Amino acid sequence: MKFFVDTADVNEIKELAATGLLDGVTTNPSLIAKSGRDFKEAIAEICEIVPGPVSAEVAATETAGMLSEARELAKIAKNVTIKVPLTFDGLRACKELTGDGLMVNVTLCFNANQALLAAKAGATFVSPFIGRLDDAGQDGMLLIREIRQIFDNYQDLTTDILAASIRTVNHVREAALIGADVATIPPGILRALIKHPLTDKGLDAFLADWAKTGQKIV
Ligand code: G3P
Repeated sequence: MKFFVDTADVNEIKELAATGLLDGVTTNPSLIAKSGRDFKEAIAEICEIVPGPVSAEVAATETAGMLSEARELAKIAKNVTIKVPLTFDGLRACKELTGDGLMVNVTLCFNANQALLAAKAGATFVSPFIGRLDDAGQDGMLLIREIRQIFDNYQDLTTDILAASIRTVNHVREAALIGADVATIPPGILRALIKHPLTDKGLDAFLADWAKTGQKIV
């Protein structure tokens, strides 16, 4: 499973990228607004830090506008991935952009039929939003399961499932168990994946016993 981080906070991205565990980054207009940064400058900086796919979302809502914005964003770096919403115009733009060899992440996916259409439009990634479905009292993880099953039925559907809107460490585990190709994870959740109280307790005990030996390794 590839791990992307879901943020436009360059400092967070720098710190997490240093672990070598980051395979990409996703941003969206809300995350860019939260960062307070110039959009294109932030994307350029992020693309320098993380060589993997970096999602940058168009703001236009009709195909022609999406295409011109996408071509502007694509000039920033080779690893820019154009994010388009799962709408009629977004799918039309996706088809054309992937036809031109660009990576496209079709976002705001909330049911299996939408994901199937994104795959038919040649999307590189489709982003089903787990947390927002859960927030609405539906079952976000069921959507991941359905998309996996549908995509596995057809060899020609090569779109990666990018599990998004992740709220808990269990979302990551369950998405991995189902076989999502990518999880885009908020920085706090990514850090929480590492922690376990028994790991901390066990390390403290090892270090206390090592100290008793009075030995040094170097
Ligand atoms: O960036 C796409 C998605 O991960 C955002 O999810 O629900 O946390 O805004 P959310």
